Amino acid sequence: MNTLICKIDKEKIDQSVIDQAGSILSQGGLVAFPTETVYGLGADALQGKAAQRIYQAKGRPSDNPLIVHIAEIEALNRIVKEIPKEAALLADRFWPGPLTMILPKAECVPDDTTGGLDTVAVRMPDHPVALALIQAAGGYVAAPSANTSGRPSPTRAEHVAEDLMGRIDMILDGGAVGIGLESTIVDLSGEVPVILRPGAITLDMLSEVIGTVVMDKGLIEENSNVRPKAPGMKYRHYAPKARLCIVEGQQQNVIDRIKQLASEKCEEKVGIICTEETADAYHYGIVKTIGARNNEESIARNLYGILREFDQSEVEVIYSESFETPIMGQAIMNRLLKAAGHNKIIV
Ligand code: TXA
Ligand code: MG
Repeated sequence: MNTLICKIDKEKIDQSVIDQAGSILSQGGLVAFPTETVYGLGADALQGKAAQRIYQAKGRPSDNPLIVHIAEIEALNRIVKEIPKEAALLADRFWPGPLTMILPKAECVPDDTTGGLDTVAVRMPDHPVALALIQAAGGYVAAPSANTSGRPSPTRAEHVAEDLMGRIDMILDGGAVGIGLESTIVDLSGEVPVILRPGAITLDMLSEVIGTVVMDKGLIEENSNVRPKAPGMKYRHYAPKARLCIVEGQQQNVIDRIKQLASEKCEEKVGIICTEETADAYHYGIVKTIGARNNEESIARNLYGILREFDQSEVEVIYSESFETPIMGQAIMNRLLKAAGHNKIIV
């Protein structure tokens, strides 16, 4: 299959490109597009056959449900059984934005989209290209992150091309994304709202609007046998080719331990992930600066890109500092720990 790549400027959207992409989706095709979190791989959410193609293109297990993206709040009614009060409040406060809500699904949403579940995940992305595309496609676009299953999510169109060239119909290249980590997922289908995946919208931000919100047990109890409730969270994910090890603790201790571990390896075979504040301390191995500790957004934005960069090098092992920053820290460490298969040293 020939994959068409079209540049698109989010400040000055070329409607003819959007119309072309929209008609590909309406005909059951696949289009990758930028959102504010990561690039998504879109298909018409209400056509089961189109959703199936997403699983084929990504090599994604078919029990892992997709998020349905909408462009206006009125579109929610048609795909859910009911809109609980909490959902209305959260939509009002955080949509468009990096929040996905799980709600009981309406009949019209095919099993292929929800992985056979009786709930559906819904999100309204905060990106003009994504919103225009959803409108052009008829209002409902199922979109997982546009990576091959198991690889880090794409934060630039080049990452999408790396994984999916020749497997999808079109890539809309809107440049680098803003946030760099996937949306927060909150399950509103049960008694108490539960966070299934941490993201830029934190538990505190949600509680401020709807009161009690809890974290899924499968997320807090690392290495526990509790199964995460979002099917996708149980798979090994975001994983670089090299072995990744996270070193956590007081800053100087972390630096000392990483230097010691690195010096035991051959120079080209070891990678180090550090921050602007600590970069000068490392003189050995392939050292990459992820961002600044005093600018946690920069760390979130660069995480997946750095993991992909290391895949292009020969490193066998990567040592990373730990990033427990105030707001994005939980989401950053959730992804980093998954990428490391929970391989962590505390110093
Ligand atoms: O930021 C994002 O959410 C991005 C952009 C493209 O919008 N999308 C994204 O999709 O991260 P994906 O497929 O990579 O992750 C969706 C997660 C998976 O872990 C999946 O298991 C979970 O959401 N999920 C989807 N529907 C669900 C449902 N009905 N119940 C529980 N978990 C669900
Ligand atoms: Mg994903």
